[in-house]
Amino acid sequence: MVVLGAGPAGLVLGNLLQERGVDCVVLERAERGHVQTRARAGFLAANTVRILERHGLAEGLRRRGRAHSVCEFRSADGRFRLDYGGLGLGERHTVYPQQQLVTDLLTRFLVGGGRVEFGTEAVAVCDADTERPSVSVREAEGRPGRWRARYVAGCDGRYGAARRSLPDGSVRRYHCDHGVSWLGLLAEAPPSLDAVGYAVHERGFAGHMARTSEITRYYLQCERGTAADAWSEERIWDELELRMRGAEYGPLRRGRIARRGVVDLESDVLEPLRHGALFLAGDAAGLISPCAAKGANLAVLEAEILADALVDDLLHGDSAGLDAYSARCLAHIWRAQEFSDWMIRLLHSPSGAPEGPSPFHDSLRRSRIASLRTSRSHQDWFAEHYVGV
Ligand code: APR
Repeated sequence: MVVLGAGPAGLVLGNLLQERGVDCVVLERAERGHVQTRARAGFLAANTVRILERHGLAEGLRRRGRAHSVCEFRSADGRFRLDYGGLGLGERHTVYPQQQLVTDLLTRFLVGGGRVEFGTEAVAVCDADTERPSVSVREAEGRPGRWRARYVAGCDGRYGAARRSLPDGSVRRYHCDHGVSWLGLLAEAPPSLDAVGYAVHERGFAGHMARTSEITRYYLQCERGTAADAWSEERIWDELELRMRGAEYGPLRRGRIARRGVVDLESDVLEPLRHGALFLAGDAAGLISPCAAKGANLAVLEAEILADALVDDLLHGDSAGLDAYSARCLAHIWRAQEFSDWMIRLLHSPSGAPEGPSPFHDSLRRSRIASLRTSRSHQDWFAEHYVGV
């Protein structure tokens, strides 16, 4: 078995295969240090934690992760908090920075005898429609190489070799540009509130998400095409303060902006998630906007479904799970996409939409937030989908 990519999808898959004695190698383009320090998502859904616990992969997050179950909405109509841990299915998030999870998964895989080829870039998946697919690679110093296996798992993200190797017409791509861009910021500052903060403001959305006691993630909606370094730190903090209504609800705790990047909110889904012997999981299978923090959670879920199906096939000769893999994952993916799309429309006026700002939709948004503030059944629905995958 060859797995492309040592992100959450590839490493969960690698661990689960190794646990059950399936021979596999993980090919990773980056070096180990890079993989272990890349700051990405940090909100793990309850089901993700259950999957990791089921396979003995949750020790680190149990020790260092923090339970989280409150979000706060701020708008011109005031603020309200939703203790979603006490609503819906009563589930919480665990806040655990993704680089720590990746480090735990990698350590566990290597200690168990797993093999990861770092600095090895998959170039193409070849002969995927046969029983003997292969992966051509570029190793250190550009040396070419080739790996053969019965199956290949494409867990190498949006720009990886798995997606590139799909023949035209073999897989359909559904794509949506939500017309919204975010300036994503990692601040060397303690969290400013004990909740995830969602601020809806006429100047655009602002978000607050705790990572650790010293690091906080903030998001600022910005015009499409804004350069990541276009705003000074002072302007960023002033804008965050304004949109989060610091004058009314308390000032933000400022610090150095350690990282920043612009992200255009986009979604896509590939269908089916298989081409012959090549299976897609994680970002390679579909992109989901970061709005509802579903990306890493879907990646872990898909990896477990794929691992079970591969074990059934390779160890027991039963291919039913592999045949059903795509449909099973897509049911979860579309539900997550639906909720994420709803969140985007709840929180933003799409400044990048071709038809421009819409006062009609702004009023709908206001009414949607009012419903969330006042309707218990709406709150239950929100909680179930917000933490669920
Ligand atoms: N060959 C080998 N490795 C590659 C290649 C390639 N051609 N291209 C990319 N990679 C590696 C990347 O370096 C990275 O380590 O594949 C890995 C993909 O990892 P992620 O991008 O973390 O993707 P995935 O495991 O699917 O996790 C998805 O995690 O960060 C969250 O929300 C985010 O949705 C995302 C989720």
